[in-house]
Amino acid sequence: MYDFDAQNKALIQGVEADLAACFDHEFDTPAVIVEAMKYSLFAGGKRVRPVLMRQTALMMGGDVDSARALSCAIEMIHTYSLIHDDLPAMDDDDLRRGKPTNHVVYGESTAVLAGDALLNFAAETALTDIIAHPGRMEQSVRAYAELMKAAGIEGMIGGQVSDIQAENAQNVSKEELDFIHAHKTGALITAAVVCGGILGGAEEEELACLTAYGQNLGLAFQIADDILDETSTTETLGKPVGSDEKNHKTTYVTLYGLDASKKMLIETYYRAEDALRQLDRDTRFLSEMAAYVCERALGVSPDKISIDK
Ligand code: IPE
Ligand code: IPE
Ligand code: MG
Ligand code: MG
Ligand code: MG
Repeated sequence: MYDFDAQNKALIQGVEADLAACFDHEFDTPAVIVEAMKYSLFAGGKRVRPVLMRQTALMMGGDVDSARALSCAIEMIHTYSLIHDDLPAMDDDDLRRGKPTNHVVYGESTAVLAGDALLNFAAETALTDIIAHPGRMEQSVRAYAELMKAAGIEGMIGGQVSDIQAENAQNVSKEELDFIHAHKTGALITAAVVCGGILGGAEEEELACLTAYGQNLGLAFQIADDILDETSTTETLGKPVGSDEKNHKTTYVTLYGLDASKKMLIETYYRAEDALRQLDRDTRFLSEMAAYVCERALGVSPDKISIDK
């Protein structure tokens, strides 16, 4: 049987080492900003996005080396989005990755700047790697542009703006909620997979399949997050449960109810699987990653639950 856990662990170890190496020198800047960046970056995230990018590059016949810098960049961007998402002006949460949130420890102004700094450091990390490897410049630049677009106004930022706009709204439609989920969460997860594909040398048709997989994985990820906000515990998640209710968010759970949300999560999982079947590659890791994301919210693997399809 394919050992997903062993491969995931090995990839995470590589990500941790490379992220640590990014900070392995003196910075000519006030110490507190570096400390605040590292505080959130090394707080114990699951590293789903960099792992997806590295594994997809490998799956496409590339090597991990090509994805090392950009996968550090995506984790920095993701971490910055979490620091800002937790700010009093946004979701106002005080726990993240099992620790007090950045602004609780360092104050709001430093937390805002630590988020900004991680975004800039992501760009610096990616661009420095591009300059150092002119032989793969074309693919690296294309992947970098893909990542920055996904993090920006037509991606994660756009989703976060819509999420905030929809707070307290009475009639958020299904289409609006899917827009929010696809952008605030789906864009970066899709970019992780597509960037891995570009760096691994995927053909255009393969990139289309990876996009479809990433979009469904991203939606599954946020449906699962909505469910867990309702059903899990703060200890398990390392972030406060009930945050969505506190902020009067519309979520899959408020719009469809818990049972229907779980059913839609499983349907989304099967759509991700359908996309993978179009690829003539060893997709077992990506398939098990989708199952893992769903299992966190379902308690069992989605394969074990039968639904009327
Ligand atoms: C949390 O992302 C934010 C969402 C998009 C739901 P993760 O669940 O990947 O958080 P970490 O990185 O493991 O802390
Ligand atoms: C956040 O969505 C997506 C981001 C871009 C950070 P949520 O607000 O639901 O994420 P959590 O639940 O705080 O991790
Ligand atoms: Mg939020
Ligand atoms: Mg939040
Ligand atoms: Mg949430």
